[in-house]
Amino acid sequence: MDFIIVDNYEEMSKKASDIFVEKVNQKPDAVLGLATGSTPERFYELLIDAYKQGDVSFEHAISFNLDEYVGISLDNSQSYHHYMNEKLFNHINLPAAQANLPLGETEDLQVACDNYEAKIKDAGGVDLQLLGIGLNGHIGFNEPGTPFEQETHVVDLAPSTREANARFFDSIDEVPTKAITMGIKTIMQSEQIVLLISGEKKADALYQLAEGPITEDFPASILREHPNVIIIADKAAASKINK
Ligand code: GLP
Repeated sequence: MDFIIVDNYEEMSKKASDIFVEKVNQKPDAVLGLATGSTPERFYELLIDAYKQGDVSFEHAISFNLDEYVGISLDNSQSYHHYMNEKLFNHINLPAAQANLPLGETEDLQVACDNYEAKIKDAGGVDLQLLGIGLNGHIGFNEPGTPFEQETHVVDLAPSTREANARFFDSIDEVPTKAITMGIKTIMQSEQIVLLISGEKKADALYQLAEGPITEDFPASILREHPNVIIIADKAAASKINK
């Protein structure tokens, strides 16, 4: 696991967008794994800037998002479909047919999971996966206790995750109780992973990720067994680790 420690959120976002732009320039049909949450918001703005300045084209790229809530419609302003359209897809030239997210609003969730996993495999697997991290070590929506061997599946969201995400909804009662997420196995099959972590409140999470035991109780810890992971952390998040 390589660590890049930078001064602040802006620099973290810039380092990450540089890595993604370089990847797509090297391999125009790259398969990108994308994430939601507050952490990558500036990263997406910088990708849009790079596209508008003519530094990169996403015409041949393919994307797969990590996760989506179950039971809210795709155009609900809190769905991850909506987030990705607003924050990225509406502003770049990645064709809609090449942008994939799990379908959380469907009759048969298991079929949706199996189809998503198959689609990732058909695309040749993810070349470069972006990750954030939850306070409890979740990646995607793989909550503590998720077996490392799981592929794309339906999860019950941890109460702490629903509370953390309630800030985006009118009340906690509106936060979905389930989601579809790529599994840890799916994520670990990516060729390269970039994890972004920012802010003092994530310092304990980064400490556990970098120095705690590798355990299903802290899902992100498995990343230490992946051969090609870059952690980009700002100083505040990195304040408890020895790097
Ligand atoms: C969310 C997402 C994750 C994200 C994490 C951290 O619930 N499912 O993919 O990385 O929580 O979010 P944030 O960046 O807002 O702290």
